[in-house]
Order: sequence, then structure tokens, then C-alpha cells
Amino acid sequence: MAIYLSLTNAIASLFLFVLAFALPITGRPATFLEDFRVTWSDSHIRQIDGGKAIQLVLDRNSGCGFASKRQYLFGRVSMKIKLVPGDSAGTVTAFYMNSNTDAVRDELDFEFLGNRTGQPYTVQTNIYAHGKGDREQRINLWFDPAADFHTYTILWNHRQIVFYVDDVPIRVYKNNEARGIPFPKFQSMGVYSTLWEADNWATRGGLEKIDWSKAPFYAYYKDFDIEGCPVPGPANCASNPRNWWEGINYQVLSALEARKYRWVRINHMIYDYCTDKSRNPVTPPECTAGF
Ligand SMILES: *[C@@H]1O[C@H](CO)[C@@H](O)[C@H](O)[C@H]1NC(C)=O
Repeated sequence: MAIYLSLTNAIASLFLFVLAFALPITGRPATFLEDFRVTWSDSHIRQIDGGKAIQLVLDRNSGCGFASKRQYLFGRVSMKIKLVPGDSAGTVTAFYMNSNTDAVRDELDFEFLGNRTGQPYTVQTNIYAHGKGDREQRINLWFDPAADFHTYTILWNHRQIVFYVDDVPIRVYKNNEARGIPFPKFQSMGVYSTLWEADNWATRGGLEKIDWSKAPFYAYYKDFDIEGCPVPGPANCASNPRNWWEGINYQVLSALEARKYRWVRINHMIYDYCTDKSRNPVTPPECTAGF
């Protein structure tokens, strides 16, 4: 009897355990249409590999874009992207999260700025917290992002926001609310992506124009993985400390990640708003609040 009881208890708690941890999460990676919808130019987004991957097209007529069907409050979003190869100057591929609120915007941006053949892509990141952006950083990648798929990830929990390229953190924004520094926490965000022409600013500050004779331009996406608290969804999800993305291993960089992050900042960072004295005569507080 006692054994029977503890067995049922064990099964019940196992069930609760699975429920508590797995409820907001479905099997990953997902097909494109499970998580996303086209928001701009249906004819320029083609599903391939049974909907598990997509091709984005930019031509003279249009770019294109897609967005998650739902919004999320905390979590981790990743996808594999293969950028426009060859002469991609003037094209911008973006992958970002956005609260979609005009008044007080929260936004986490990855922007991939194309370049002339043989010149390095630039990855620009930016963070809007409580309506304030202007936090651009830029790095040049240590590989050719158009030769192969690489994983781009945004981790967002109560302690920090981390942008990853593969397993390398390229940007960390800590929650330093205690020092009066805003941190996105109150608004859910959707996941977005676009491929478009921005040759008025993207490549060498707009000097390099898009070469339409090379069009159409193609970028590829696959392995869509969103794990987070959907909104609308279970009301207590976002504050549940047992969500895996809130776990101890995700609250700060590991020693290995910290080493990789330092390596990126020393060897690959080409612009940092924190040190741009012409824009910020006074160093913004989050720049010195520590990692
Ligand atoms: C493009 O290549 C030039 C020359 O190597 C480099 O200065 C620039 O940072 C690269 N990226 C962009 C987006 O202009």
C-alpha cells in the first residue's frame, strides 16, 4: 500500500513537473507556419523543405518580412540564418524582438548589414528599453555568414539579455534596474524578421549602393525555435522562476562564455555607442554598470 501510494505520488509529481516545465513549450524546432506568419510580401517568402525552412527574396519590386503569431514575455529565440551571398551591399537582413508599442517601445535587434563581395558583413545590435534606444554596437563576423547557416539567438530573462552568434555571446545587457537603468520587463515582444534595401545607410554609412544587376537577393532561414511565455497565455508563466531560461546557468555568462565575449569585444567590435564621445559625451550608465 505504502509503495503503491508513493508510486502514484511519484507519478503525479512527475506529471506536475513535466507540466510545469513543458507547458509553454512545444516540440522544437518548429515549421515556419507553426510559429510565424508573413507580414510583408507573400510572394517574396518561399517555404522550402516541407515548411521547415524559408527563402526570403529581395528584388526591385519588394523586400519581405515575417513575424511570430504570438508575443512572448521572457524566453529564448533562435534561428539558423544563411545571409545573402556575394555582393550584398545595401541589403539589410534583420532578426529582432519588438513590443510593437509606439509610446514605450522595447526592442532587441540583430541587423546584418551586407557588403561588397569579399568585404565583411557587419552585425549591428541595438536595445530599446522603456522607449529609449540609441544603443548600437557593431561587430564584424569571424566567418562568412553567407557561406553557411549559423545560429542567431536572443536570450531574455529577468537577469540579462544576451545576443549569441552560434555559441558566442556578442552582447550582454544586464538588468541593472537597482541603479535606475531601464530593463525590458513589462511588455511582451513578438519575433520579427525582414530582408530589405537600406542602401542610404547600411554599407559604409550609405556610400555603397545596392547593385540591382545582382538581384534577386536571397537569404535562408531554418530551425525556428521559440521557447518562452506566450502572451496571451498562462498568467503566471513569466514570473515562474522554474522556466529553464531563468535558470542559474542563464543568469550570468559561464566562464567560457565570458572568455568568448571578451574575445569578440577585443577582436571584432568595430563600433560601440558606449565609447562614442561625439554622440554620448557622458557615458551612458549601463555601459559602466558592470557585466
Ligand atoms: C564593409 O566593408 C568595409 C571595408 O572592409 C568595412 O569598413 C565595413 O565595416 C563593412 N561593413 C559595412 C556594413 O559597411
